[in-house]
Amino acid sequence: MNSMIEINTDTCTGCGLCLKVCSRKILKMSKGKAKIMDYPDWGCCQCGLCMSVCPSQSIQIAGLDYSEFAAPSDTKMGFEDLEVLLSSRRSIRSYKDKGIDREVLDKVIRASALTPIGSPPTNTEVLVISKREHIDDLYQDIVRCWKKTMKSMNNPIYRVVSGRVAGANQYHALTSHALPSASICCEATDSGKNIFAFDAPVIILFHGNKLGVCIVENCWLAASYACIAAHALGLGSIFSGMIPPIVNMNAEVKHKYGIPVENNVYSCLMLGYPAVKFKRRIPREHKDVRYLNTNPFYVEGAVEKERC
Ligand SMILES: Cc1cc2nc3c(=O)[nH]c(=O)nc-3n(C[C@H](O)[C@H](O)[C@H](O)COP(=O)(O)O)c2cc1C
Ligand code: SF4
Ligand code: SF4
Repeated sequence: MNSMIEINTDTCTGCGLCLKVCSRKILKMSKGKAKIMDYPDWGCCQCGLCMSVCPSQSIQIAGLDYSEFAAPSDTKMGFEDLEVLLSSRRSIRSYKDKGIDREVLDKVIRASALTPIGSPPTNTEVLVISKREHIDDLYQDIVRCWKKTMKSMNNPIYRVVSGRVAGANQYHALTSHALPSASICCEATDSGKNIFAFDAPVIILFHGNKLGVCIVENCWLAASYACIAAHALGLGSIFSGMIPPIVNMNAEVKHKYGIPVENNVYSCLMLGYPAVKFKRRIPREHKDVRYLNTNPFYVEGAVEKERC
C-alpha cells in the first residue's frame, strides 16, 4: 500500500505539513525531507490530506491528481447564515408533481460525498431512484413486504426467530416503533395515501457492505449532507425509517434494485420540490447538554448514591 506514495525530494521544502495532517501517521522527516516511515503500522488510505496541504505539490498519492483538487474558497459562509439554512430545513411530506433535473441531483450527490469518512477510502454506495415507474414499483414492494412481515409477526415462532436474528435493540425498534408505524402506513395505503414515501419524485438509498468499517455512520453522514444540500438547492426532503429495514430483510428486493446481498441500506432520503412553504423556523434543542466543569471522579456523594 505504501508504494502508492511518491515524494519529490527535489521540490520538497521539508515544511513538515504533510506529517501533521497524515491520517495514518505514516510519514516522517529524514534529512530535511518528507519520507514514508520504514515500518509503518498502516498502509496509506489515499485520503489525500497530504496532497491537500503540500505547498509545492511534492507528494503524490497513486490514483489522486492535483488538477482535481480545487483551491479552498476564501468566502466562508458566516455562522448566522449557516444557522438560518439549517434551521429553515423541514421534513417535507407533500411534494409538487415535478421531477428533479439530473444536474441538481448530481449536486446533492456531490455534496453527500464530502463528509468525514470512518476509515478512508469510503465504502458508501448510493442508489438514486428517480423514474416514476421505479418509485411506484419500490413503493409497491415496500407495502407488500411490510404486510407480509406484519402477518408473519403474528406467528410466535417467527417472532422468536426474528428476535434472535435481529438482536435485542433492533427487535425492540421493530416491535415498538417500526411495526406499529408500518401498520398505520399500510392502512393509509389501502385508503389511497402514500405515507411511506409521500409521493416524493426521488428516493436515494445509501448502502454498503454490512461488514464495512463505520458503514452505518458513513451512510448517515452522507444522507445528512444530502439533506442539507437539497435544502440549499430549494428542494425538500425527508428520511425514511420504514424503507431500509424492509429492503434489508428481503433479498429479492435487494436483487431487483441491484443492491448486493452482502450490503444493507442504512439511510434513505426522499426528495422533491416542496408543495408547502413553512413560515416559521422551529426551535430545536438536544435532550441534554452538559459542559463538564468538575472532576467527574469526585462528584460529592455520587458513588454513595449509586450504591444505595
Ligand atoms: C432516522 C430518521 C428516520 C425517519 N423516518 C421517518 C419516516 O419513516 N416517516 C416520516 O414521516 N418521517 C421520518 N423522519 C422524519 C422525522 O420524523 C422528522 O425529522 C420530524 O418530523 C421533525 O421534523 P423536521 O425534520 O422538519 O425538524 C425520520 C427522521 C430520521 C432522522
Ligand atoms: S494519502 Fe492520507 S494516509 Fe496516505 S500519506 Fe497522504 S495523508 Fe497519509
Ligand atoms: S508538505 Fe510537501 S513540501 Fe512539506 S514536507 Fe510534505 S512533501 Fe515536503
